[in-house]
Amino acid sequence: MPFPAGQTPDVQPSSLTQNFDFTPLSPPPEAVDLLLLDTAAAWWANGHPREGVLILDDRSGALTLPVLDSLISAACATVEDAVAAVRVLQDELGAERALQGNARRANLPAPPPAELPSLTEEAPAAFAGVHTVLMHLPRSLETLSDWAWLIREHAAADVVVLAVGRDKHMNHSMNQVLEKHFSDVSAGRGRSKSRVLTARGPRENVPSSAPRKNTHQVTVPGAPATELTLCSLGATYGGTKLDPGTRLMLQAVEAHPGFPGAEYVIDFGSGNGTVSAFLTLRHPQLRVIATDHSASAMQSTQLTAEANGVAARIETVRDDALSRFEDASAEVILLNPPFHQGNAVDPGAAHRLIRSAARVLAPGGRIYSVWNSHLKHRAVLSKEVGLTEQLARDARFTVTVSTKR
Ligand SMILES: C[S@@+](CC[C@H](N)C(=O)[O-])C[C@H]1O[C@@H](n2cnc3c(N)ncnc32)[C@H](O)[C@@H]1O
Repeated sequence: MPFPAGQTPDVQPSSLTQNFDFTPLSPPPEAVDLLLLDTAAAWWANGHPREGVLILDDRSGALTLPVLDSLISAACATVEDAVAAVRVLQDELGAERALQGNARRANLPAPPPAELPSLTEEAPAAFAGVHTVLMHLPRSLETLSDWAWLIREHAAADVVVLAVGRDKHMNHSMNQVLEKHFSDVSAGRGRSKSRVLTARGPRENVPSSAPRKNTHQVTVPGAPATELTLCSLGATYGGTKLDPGTRLMLQAVEAHPGFPGAEYVIDFGSGNGTVSAFLTLRHPQLRVIATDHSASAMQSTQLTAEANGVAARIETVRDDALSRFEDASAEVILLNPPFHQGNAVDPGAAHRLIRSAARVLAPGGRIYSVWNSHLKHRAVLSKEVGLTEQLARDARFTVTVSTKR
């Protein structure tokens, strides 16, 4: 190791951020990206191996493309070697597409997206021979723990994990999660209200993480409670929690005439698979297509389907906003839309999904939806889909059904 435990290199603006032309990239890099790149460059300038770089959840290529470009310009690698030396694992499909688009604009090859490994996979290719990991600190400690375990288990013994965050989103629990998996964890000096946590020294015998599991009871009037086991791993929204808005939506849907005649329903943004598993448990003939842009949500939905014995009737499709579904093809969609994009509250993300659902619904088809009552999605549902009626409302949430005109 180029540095004794507890010591990290001095971080200065480097060729990675000074020589790379970021202008074709959309969106432009953030301060956290530049700090992370300069931190990686400092390690490499001090003798840490440059090859075997794993980049986790690069939002649009602002991390991957400068690293790739520097490897290609170092002239010690062919373009193929450089591409092979950089692995990229992105949870959201939109991030994969943004990286590919920016690679085209920057005239660089895009490394093929790596498959998200399950926690039980023996030797995930994305992690083998990895000496440096560049990542944004995820919001959820469970996600951080899953990443840390995979790196500790499968990366090279000298792996240096560089995890950047904005000061206002960081807390000491993040250090503690990393310390469970690595013997040497330190926080770097702040720059632009951001800093990097460095973790190295994979610990021996950290118990294997397993997908998280939790069992819930869902009651609907006039029927025995349904027992629902929810599983989650990685960055899945809500972990194994049963979202209170989703609970209200499912109760309201069960009290409604339901889905007579529908061959299948679409669980749009399936997350941990709550909607898919509940509906297939309650309706033994029903098939569900569960779709989400998040790779870990797709794995979690699948695990939840298996845990409830309904996997044969749930198909999972990783997709961004129903882009692979035909116009006017679906009878019923259920949606609990996201209320933020990254760390920012953004109703625009939900409106985009409502517009996509409106495109995919057949005339007369219905979308059941739940949202925080202050968000005023009803006007968008009425405009984009059609007649929108309230089915339930509690102190926080409103459930509606909208019929495609
Ligand atoms: C509020 S969560 C609901 C999850 C789950 N249905 C539940 O009720 O617990 C919203 C889900 O939408 C997914 N999502 C967000 N944007 C998406 C997009 N553009 N395409 C597909 N899924 C998306 C998120 O990954 C997340 O799992």
